[in-house]
Amino acid sequence: MQTLTVELGDRAYPIHIGQNLLARADLILPHLKRKQVAIVSNTTVAPLYLEKLAEPLREAGVEVIPIELPDGEQYKNAETLNIIYDALLTQRCERSTTLIALGGGVVGDMCGFAAATFLRGVPFIQIPTTLLAQVDSSVGGKTGINHPLGKNMIGAFYQPQLVLADTETLNTLPERELSAGIAEVIKYGLIRDHAFFDWLETNMTKLMVCDPDALAYAIQRSCENKAEVVAADEKESGERALLNLGHTFGHAIENGMGYGAWLHGEAVAAGTMLAARMSQRMGWLKAAEVARITRIFKAAGLPVDAPALGVEKYLDLMSLDKKVADGKIRLVLLHGIGKAIITGEYPPEKLTETLAAIA
Ligand code: NAD
Ligand code: GLY
Repeated sequence: MQTLTVELGDRAYPIHIGQNLLARADLILPHLKRKQVAIVSNTTVAPLYLEKLAEPLREAGVEVIPIELPDGEQYKNAETLNIIYDALLTQRCERSTTLIALGGGVVGDMCGFAAATFLRGVPFIQIPTTLLAQVDSSVGGKTGINHPLGKNMIGAFYQPQLVLADTETLNTLPERELSAGIAEVIKYGLIRDHAFFDWLETNMTKLMVCDPDALAYAIQRSCENKAEVVAADEKESGERALLNLGHTFGHAIENGMGYGAWLHGEAVAAGTMLAARMSQRMGWLKAAEVARITRIFKAAGLPVDAPALGVEKYLDLMSLDKKVADGKIRLVLLHGIGKAIITGEYPPEKLTETLAAIA
């Protein structure tokens, strides 16, 4: 087991990464204020893993309240959130009850938001079971739900007490979901870690067949990058915004195509390609670098071409992004591989030309 720390002073917390961690009640018990937990999961993950987590906790005298949500991005909304509140209230949970998110980013974001808001805040633990959640969403405390008008528009920064990434859970993950997770892994290489990008180019074949050592390194290096960024800029007043490379375009794709049609990681990959092509139009990225980025996404089984929603629709959806400031769509763009910037200062035609070039 590897342990990293998200350095946030008195709110610092560990990320444990390794095999067979679900059954390690000993890692969870020290974080509980009271021997009562509510495990929030979904209809896919609960039958696979809930008992593996719950049984050792029960044996240690912990009361376990299971809460099962419907599965899918289309359910990441206020109605589903209410299922969590209803269960917590019905079971008379208290401020010292710990919520545990067991699942991918959708469950993690919703459970985290429920924890941030139930009784004005209860402790929570992230147990991510997708690659995407293990390398990104479970770390850093962004929680929330979608609104019909915009993705992740309602939420809170609320840090977990602990992240437990059991890499064995990835054995049951569908291939398409594995690829979606790799999109966020590639992101770290592109925005701030050239050496990791080089490593990913060399090791993509191993990652695609779930080679345990390659996966463990990719998760560890991603979490190290994420933990550093979050420690430096928890509330996204600067550097953290760079983690949104491809996301402004990507969220427009997810919303425009209907939540759930494109996986988040797929939309991020196609969105990152748009950011790369726009960076090339700005003269900041060479054609050879765009070609490298295209190749690595293709090798990861990810889409490199965004859907043709039309320029107007893209602009409309992108104008609802959280990074919009003074009415300007601010974008994360690349100044070479391993170096990202965020800017609203670009000629607007560079954006419209990039969007118009979508076939
Ligand atoms: P997801 O949560 O929808 O999970 C993908 C699918 O895999 C689901 O059907 C899920 O039930 C299933 N699944 C989960 N674990 C499994 C396992 N071990 N075996 C088999 N099936 C399993 O999607 P995701 O890609 O994990 O997360 C995407 C979400 O995360 C988006 O809503 C995105 O906005 C959010 N996100 C949040 C942050 C953040 O910082 N909070 C960062 C990135 C993404
Ligand atoms: N996934 C972007 C962030 O956590 O800031």
